[in-house]
Amino acid sequence: MKKNNSFHLRLQQRHDELRWLYMELYDNDSMFAELCSKMYEFFKERNHTLKAIDAVRETEPDWYKKNDLLGMMFYIDNFAATIKGVESKLDYIERCSVNYIHLMPFLETPKGRSDGGYAVSDFRKVQPQLGTMEDLEHLTSSCHSKGIHVCMDFVMNHTSEEHEWAKKARQGDGEYMSRYFFFDNDTIPSEYEKTVPQVFPTTAPGNFTWLDDAKHFVMTSFYPYQWDLNYKNPRVFNEMIYNFLYLANKGIDIIRLDAVPYIWKELHTKCRNLPQVHTIVRLMRMISEIVCPSVLLLGEVVMEPEKVVPYFGTVEKPECHMLYNVTTMAATWHTVATRDVRLLKQQLDILHSLPKEYIFLNYLRCHDDIGWGLDYAFLQKQGFAEVSHKQYLNDYFQGYAGESTSRGELYNADPVTKDARFCGTTASMCGIEKAGFEQNDAAMERAIGLDLMLHAYMFMQSGIPVLYSGDEIGQVNDYSYKEQPEKAADSRYIHRGPMNWELSKNISNLNTVEGKLFHGLENLEQIRQTEKVFVSNADTWTIETGDFSILGIGRFFDGQKIIGLFNFSEFDKTARINEIDGVYVDLISGETKTSIEISIPAYGYYYLKKES
Ligand code: GLC
Repeated sequence: MKKNNSFHLRLQQRHDELRWLYMELYDNDSMFAELCSKMYEFFKERNHTLKAIDAVRETEPDWYKKNDLLGMMFYIDNFAATIKGVESKLDYIERCSVNYIHLMPFLETPKGRSDGGYAVSDFRKVQPQLGTMEDLEHLTSSCHSKGIHVCMDFVMNHTSEEHEWAKKARQGDGEYMSRYFFFDNDTIPSEYEKTVPQVFPTTAPGNFTWLDDAKHFVMTSFYPYQWDLNYKNPRVFNEMIYNFLYLANKGIDIIRLDAVPYIWKELHTKCRNLPQVHTIVRLMRMISEIVCPSVLLLGEVVMEPEKVVPYFGTVEKPECHMLYNVTTMAATWHTVATRDVRLLKQQLDILHSLPKEYIFLNYLRCHDDIGWGLDYAFLQKQGFAEVSHKQYLNDYFQGYAGESTSRGELYNADPVTKDARFCGTTASMCGIEKAGFEQNDAAMERAIGLDLMLHAYMFMQSGIPVLYSGDEIGQVNDYSYKEQPEKAADSRYIHRGPMNWELSKNISNLNTVEGKLFHGLENLEQIRQTEKVFVSNADTWTIETGDFSILGIGRFFDGQKIIGLFNFSEFDKTARINEIDGVYVDLISGETKTSIEISIPAYGYYYLKKES
């Protein structure tokens, strides 16, 4: 009885705003009443262990803002074949110091028309070859007993064309057609096309697909087999919320809101980031706070900072708990290619001026391509023009520019705009693939140095670092996707290869690439998790270093100060750090630094902690 009270109390606290926002979108009392009663059903179904976690996290709402979380993302099949396989690898995950795993999409999806699982045909069924919902529940509960948090995608913008709603819509059932965007002629679709940009301009051009059997156009912003859901229909919102709560009740801690900026469409707009999107995210935040308050919302907003930050909401009316630090990621690779930290420094300055409550997920690589969404107004002042600079970056990372050691491929090269994105693993982009192929030991040392320096710099940022599975052992590009017809057109599969467990056996051998990387990362992870100056609400700032290739980041918390220095060039350098005002010890090598002149080897890095 007491437990159920917690639901009503939480509902009561949020009811007015919840109802207000729902009515603003839908003006439908009976659907709102249905939503509230279903929420209660899901609350009652939530198991005791999860409710206990809810209770703990409610008393400590900032639990995820410290310095003890380290994420890793992977595809279940690539990592361990099945969900049960993942469970059997939890020791390895712990060995990596990882306590947050993002399981890439694993719900039912049609083979060959899945977009890596982002075309869901049943939100309540696991892909049979990966396992069952029971396996998932078992995994999340084993993870919880080891202090590991589990993240999954909630692909809310669209369903697969094989979803039961889509099948009924295709057969002409009006009730289901109204859950998507159907048009019997191209008048309205062509109006949309005037203002809506393209997500996949080469692999899936246009935002609509003609269905020959149904004699209708359907809106498909992503692939033609991914049908955009119409959130103007309250039935869509309610049913998707029920799916969300169903998944939360399987023990998911972090729910990634896939492609969230796209979920509301209005004619004559770009159909991105419309105000109603924020209303929906705010509703989702309140609904999860009422039913399953331990669950965190991670927004996938792959856009410039001005568009990303509003998804945190306000302090009084928060939306997402966490967002990806996407511009910093892209600016990092720009810095690798140019050896010029000025853009990165100004990007970090923007982040450092944001409220410390905002938690970003920091990463070097993920399952997607890198879009070169950089601050071109800033770069223009340094003489970089947008189109030619993007071309340079793509050439550089394909290995065409003279001093480049990177390997990888273009993604969605648009012949009209000349725009293209880039795909490749961290290791391949750092030169590990090339050095390995050429059996060049000196080049390999440099590549490992660059790879570790980038991780060291990523760990110095506030927020939660997330590793891309395989990066801990320097896994390189996998070109075998080209031989698989259903993948061949999508070069993102180049960095979605299976985990190489054979190579991972080398992690304890410091004479191997895997051992060097694994050990280097382990060292960094341990420092980050033990030094309190790495907590998210530390003061952070960038430091002048007197050299465009050297990035300096300062952190201060509770009397502790640390200066991170990162040499983005292949040359030994000397930085001039006027802030050095005493004795500093490098936490990585144990060396002491007292002078403002600090020499840093090629691709070197220091975590200099001030001695008290
Ligand atoms: C997200 C995913 C991407 C997918 C898209 C469509 O951006 O990260 O992999 O293609 O959503 O669901």
